[in-house]
Amino acid sequence: MHTRITLTWVCAGLLALGSCQKAADCPEPETQTVDAVTRGAYIVATSGCNDCHTPKTMTDHGPVPDMTRLLSGHPVNEPIAPYDPATVGPWVLLAPGLTAAVGPWGVTYAANLTPSESGMKGWTEERFMKAIREGKHMGLDNTRPIMPPMPWQEISKMTDEDLKAMFAYLQTIPAVDNLVPAFAPAAH
Ligand code: HEC
Repeated sequence: MHTRITLTWVCAGLLALGSCQKAADCPEPETQTVDAVTRGAYIVATSGCNDCHTPKTMTDHGPVPDMTRLLSGHPVNEPIAPYDPATVGPWVLLAPGLTAAVGPWGVTYAANLTPSESGMKGWTEERFMKAIREGKHMGLDNTRPIMPPMPWQEISKMTDEDLKAMFAYLQTIPAVDNLVPAFAPAAH
């Protein structure tokens, strides 16, 4: 990837100690360069994307993401377990894989974020930015809003650089062929 991100640490600590009163006395700021894909992998791994977008398997310690299906969304052939609408509360992620959710909006299925035909193959960086910044399904104009519980309102507060790094990383992960079921609006 040609995009490079530079992290700079200023010598604030040294200034605080009074050991470099003038800029000229300060050592050169330490600079570390991380490529966009590495940075994107770090952001995706630490921002909860797996919580909804990666199918889980059940273990003695609870649900763990199945990394062989990393970020491939709700499995097309995995029916959601029956649930009692009376006990759902405001909304809930649904068993067995915790990749689908039910709430007042209906039932949503976490999207396939891998670069497959049924995922984000062919998406441009611009489409990814539009999806996250404006909550537009498929990152296109004139599409429906992206529904809860996808927290695009929060994710959209990331910098352009971080969103682009996430997209760069997502385009490098193994493509998983999985056509996620369509959003099922609640019948009101
Ligand atoms: C709490 C669950 C949850 C979390 C956390 C989450 N997502 Fe989502 N995401 C969803 C659901 C559900 C959908 C599908 C919504 C719909 O169909 O409108 C979705 C949709 C998307 C879409 C839009 C796909 C399309 O078809 O337009 C993108 C892009 C996306 N998520 C990326 C991410 C990234 C990147 C992260 C982590 C930074 C993340 N999501 C975290 C649940 C989540």
